[in-house]
Amino acid sequence: MRFKIYRYDGEEEDHDIYEVPHEEGQTILDVLFHIQEEIDDSLSFRYSCRGAVCGSCAMLIDKVPKLACRTQVKRVKEEKRELENYEVLDEGENLSEDFILVEPLPHLEVEKDLIVNMDKFYENYEKIEPYLKPDEEPEREHRMDPEKVSELEDYTNCILCAACFGGCPVNGENENYFGPAALAKLYRFHIDPRDNEDRLASADEEDGWWACDFYTNCRKVCPKGVPPNFGIGKARQELEGRKDDED
Ligand code: SF4
Ligand code: FES
Repeated sequence: MRFKIYRYDGEEEDHDIYEVPHEEGQTILDVLFHIQEEIDDSLSFRYSCRGAVCGSCAMLIDKVPKLACRTQVKRVKEEKRELENYEVLDEGENLSEDFILVEPLPHLEVEKDLIVNMDKFYENYEKIEPYLKPDEEPEREHRMDPEKVSELEDYTNCILCAACFGGCPVNGENENYFGPAALAKLYRFHIDPRDNEDRLASADEEDGWWACDFYTNCRKVCPKGVPPNFGIGKARQELEGRKDDED
C-alpha cells in the first residue's frame, strides 16, 4: 500500500510517497512507525498510548480528522464521512485510490511533519475554566443519580484530541471561536449538579455558543462519540428560554 505523507521541516512543505507492506490489523500509526524505523527516520509524528486514550495522534487521514492509532489501514477507503462545508476537501492534494493521504490536523500551526502546535486549541479550552466549581468543599463524596452519570459520560469521554477542532469549518474561519470540545466540556459542567457556576452565561457571546453553524462535523469525526453539536444546541435553547422569560 502507498502512503502520501505531508512533510514540513520548518521551511519547506512537501509530500513524500512511501510504500509500506500491509499486515493484518495494521493501523495508520503502525505505518508511521514502519516508515520511521525502516525507511526515513526524519518523519515526525506525535503519539503516546497507542490505544485511543491520550488523544495525541489525531491527524488528517484522507482528508478526515482521525486518530492514527485507531484507524485501520484497510478500512480507510471504505469509511466515508460526509463533512459539511469543509474547506480542506477543496484545497491542497487530491485524494486518490492509489495512496492514503496523511496530513497534519487543519486549523492549527504545523511544527514539523504531522506535529501541530496545540496552543490555539488549549487557549480556547482554558477560556471555559474546565474544572468543577462547587459552592463549597464537600465533606464526603457526592451520590450521583446513575442516569445523570450516563448523561455526563457522553461529554466526559472527550480525550482532547482536537479532531473536532480540525474538522470544524467555524474554527477554520474564526480563531477566537471556543470550538466544539471546549463547548462540549462547558455544557458538561452546566448539567453537572455538583457545579454551581452559571456556565451558560460564560459562553453567551459571539465566539461562544452562538458561533456554531451546526455543520455537525464535530460529532462525525469524534473518535469517542462526544456530541458537541447536541450540547451547543441545548445550551442555546436554554439561553433563548431565559431571554424569553426576561421579555
Ligand atoms: S470532542 Fe471528540 S473530537 Fe473533540 S477533542 Fe474531544 S474526543 Fe476529540
Ligand atoms: S496514541 Fe493515544 S490516542 Fe492515539
